[in-house]
Amino acid sequence: MTTKVFRITDISRAALEIEEAARIIRRGGTVAIPTETVYGLGANGLDGEAVRKIFEAKGRPQDNPLILHVADESWIERYCKDVPPETYELTKRFWPGPLTIILKRRSIVPDITTAGLPTVGMRYPDHPITNALIRAAGVPIAAPSANISGRPSTTSFEHVLKDMDGKIDAIIDGGDCAVGLESTIIDLTVKPPRLLRPGGVTLEQLKEVLGEVEVDKAVSSLLGNGEKPKAPGMKYRHYAPKAPVTVVCGSPEKSAQYILKQDLNDKGVLCFDEYAHLFDRERTLSFGSSTDLKAQAERLFDALRAFDELDVREIFAQCPTEEGLGLAIANRLKKAAGFRIVDLGRD
Ligand code: TXA
Ligand code: MG
Repeated sequence: MTTKVFRITDISRAALEIEEAARIIRRGGTVAIPTETVYGLGANGLDGEAVRKIFEAKGRPQDNPLILHVADESWIERYCKDVPPETYELTKRFWPGPLTIILKRRSIVPDITTAGLPTVGMRYPDHPITNALIRAAGVPIAAPSANISGRPSTTSFEHVLKDMDGKIDAIIDGGDCAVGLESTIIDLTVKPPRLLRPGGVTLEQLKEVLGEVEVDKAVSSLLGNGEKPKAPGMKYRHYAPKAPVTVVCGSPEKSAQYILKQDLNDKGVLCFDEYAHLFDRERTLSFGSSTDLKAQAERLFDALRAFDELDVREIFAQCPTEEGLGLAIANRLKKAAGFRIVDLGRD
């Protein structure tokens, strides 16, 4: 199929494009959409046949549920029941924004969307184009990240084109994604609430609103055989460049020294800006200053993808501290490494 591209730079002059994209969604087609976190691969979340096309285009396992993107918190009750009051404390503070809330679903949401789970993830993204699209379509848009399953999520139009051209009906080019990592996922159907995936809304911020928050084991370690993560997607190898990755945790100084001591012939290095000069220029990518977590989040997936264009057999990566946004960055790096971690300690 030919994938249509809508290039939108000025939302105030994009009414026709938005309407055309909304028509594709209403008719059961697939449209890649920009959000503040990563690009999503969207379809009408209430239309099982449309949702099936998402799984097909991504090569996504059927047991991995999708989240619903809505146009504000007033849509929650349409698709969810027994909504606890904390939900609205969270939406008041963090919506629109990079926070997905897991709630009990109503039967109007088809089984295929939630992979048969009795719950559904709800998110109100902070992106004017996508919000206008959801309103124009009048339906919640189910959207996983717009990458081929297992690859790093797509944070630019070029990434989406590379993975999805010819497989979906349309792509909306809305420029690069501001956060660069997928949304935080919090499950409010259990007590205490459980963090299933760290992201742009930090654990510390969630605790300010919810008090106690449990962190799912799958966030920081590899699950054993037979152990099941609460977010089914967390069990798959993910974000993986073609070459195997080893993450090196510890102070930036220590991790740089450790990597320097390895035999780096044919090996790639993903490091903080300050250390790039220590390594071979051809096979080294930097992803922001060691003190700038926002830059690291924004650039991480682009760097992981870029290694596929370099001729490297293995990759060593420096890991940030796990505070604030660092928890999400470290989580994606560790997943990219299949939890192959060297931990040097912080002091
Ligand atoms: O930032 C984001 O969340 C992006 C943009 C496009 O909004 N979307 C995204 O979707 O990252 P996806 O499908 O790539 O990741 C959603 C994760 C998966 O790990 C999935 O297993 C989990 O959320 N998930 C979805 N519904 C769930 C549910 N009802 N219970 C537990 N986990 C769920
Ligand atoms: Mg994904």
